[in-house]
Amino acid sequence: MEGWSRVGRWAMMSLMYRSEALRPPSMLELAEIALTSAYNNRDGGITGFLVHFEGTFLQVLEGEPERVEPLFGRIAADGRHENIRILERDMDRRSPVFGFWAMNIGPFDGPLFQRAVFGRRVDGREFAERSADRDYSFQVLLRAYLHACVIEDVTPIVRGRRPGAIPLLPNRRGAPWAMEAEPWAEPWAESWVEPPRGGNG
Ligand SMILES: Cc1cc2nc3c(=O)[nH]c(=O)nc-3n(C[C@H](O)[C@H](O)[C@H](O)COP(=O)(O)O)c2cc1C
Repeated sequence: MEGWSRVGRWAMMSLMYRSEALRPPSMLELAEIALTSAYNNRDGGITGFLVHFEGTFLQVLEGEPERVEPLFGRIAADGRHENIRILERDMDRRSPVFGFWAMNIGPFDGPLFQRAVFGRRVDGREFAERSADRDYSFQVLLRAYLHACVIEDVTPIVRGRRPGAIPLLPNRRGAPWAMEAEPWAEPWAESWVEPPRGGNG
């Protein structure tokens, strides 16, 4: 079966990078990127998370290497950002860490979030510099992901393989919200390793 290694487990890759926006994106542009990404990624069985703060992007993509690498190639060619630098390519994960959404974006600019996570405010310059560090960026992404899960009241830990949910964000047609009520009702749901647990979705 596609995606399974010879020892019988799902071959998963996690790719994390940082980049710089060419010009400061608006909230709507960020929501547009996250929503388009979520729909595309869900088709490719990819999950992950995106953070933007004052011109710096951090993103993690998780899924089959055959899907993640071409997606990253497309993202890297996107003219909305530059100076793309891979922070990690991890081939050893058994389960996604950012598995709830096919893609979602966490605002890093809320003072409450920054205080809760780092104990103080962080400015854009410090963030741009420190995000070159793999551990720092992983912590930021993870905490932003957990924060978003708490706000949306969903279970952050996803075991096995399941399609990521589509986030609640303003959609491109101007409708106030886009939401998939039943993220489980996917044609490829039969290929899951384990059934979903807990109240995800
Ligand atoms: C910071 C950033 C992150 C992105 N992440 C994704 C992603 O996870 N998945 C995706 O399909 N497109 C992502 N994109 C958009 C792609 O570069 C590209 O515009 C998009 O895949 C084209 O989709 P479409 O052919 O459906 O219009 C991202 C763009 C930027 C600037």
